[in-house]
Amino acid sequence: MSVDYAVITGRQQRVWSLGDYGKVGSLLSWLGESLVRRLDVHAGEAVLDVAAGNSNASLPAARRFADVLATDYVPALLDEARARADADGVRLRTQVADAQALPFDDGTFDVVMSTIGAMFAPDQEALAREMSRVCRSGGRIGMANWTPDSMVGDMFRAVGAHVPPPQGVLPASMWATGERVHELFGPYCKISTSRETCPFRFPSPQACLDYFRTWYGPTVAAFRGLDDDGQASLADGLLEVFTRHGSSADGTMAADVSYLEVIAYRS
Ligand SMILES: C[S@@+](CC[C@H](N)C(=O)[O-])C[C@H]1O[C@@H](n2cnc3c(N)ncnc32)[C@H](O)[C@@H]1O
Repeated sequence: MSVDYAVITGRQQRVWSLGDYGKVGSLLSWLGESLVRRLDVHAGEAVLDVAAGNSNASLPAARRFADVLATDYVPALLDEARARADADGVRLRTQVADAQALPFDDGTFDVVMSTIGAMFAPDQEALAREMSRVCRSGGRIGMANWTPDSMVGDMFRAVGAHVPPPQGVLPASMWATGERVHELFGPYCKISTSRETCPFRFPSPQACLDYFRTWYGPTVAAFRGLDDDGQASLADGLLEVFTRHGSSADGTMAADVSYLEVIAYRS
């Protein structure tokens, strides 16, 4: 089956432009802090953040005085990234770019990284090739990718029950299975992976649902495309996921959401 990646990418770009992903990204700073620490980013290193959103991984690298370039295909998120960097008083450059066709020369960066961003690119081979290509020999590539059995994996399945994912494209969460990661980065890199968790804390499962329904592009798009009954059913499905993963004795929501941290050493 032939897959038109350009059409799918265009559609996804419009979806990520809905709501305001930055409101979600700002709650998940753990992912960037952890990945940048694991990558051991040093001052002065050239760092590329791919599908950077509002700079979750870029900021911790910029705080280490690295020379960081944040890229994403949603310009408004890069505006937010610059505003956050200004607020923190750190230097951050931004550039609009599709993760599957990075507009940089071979070997430009010491470190190429992405937290829960690049994993969504539909052409997984092109993404692995591009992230590897722009990383210098001896450099490091890092990714944080939601696992298929995580709360976010269940969230995507709940959405997928109402809005079928594009045909012929492997699920993004394949990027969190060791086998697929080795298949994709294996030709370019030596790989190490570890399973981690990211804290999601909300006042309640319902508050988490309201938050994602308002701000998270993929959920905003899914609700918009459904009639009243479909919306009610999707809301029930998502609430079930957030309640199952996040119930806590004090009634608030507390989920530790699993993801795979990937460090790939460029040959
Ligand atoms: C869940 S957000 C993660 C953003 C950020 N890395 C973080 O950790 O908060 C996914 C991001 O990937 C971006 N994205 C998805 N596919 C992309 C692609 N093919 N090229 C560039 N950006 C992409 C979206 O615009 C969005 O900002």
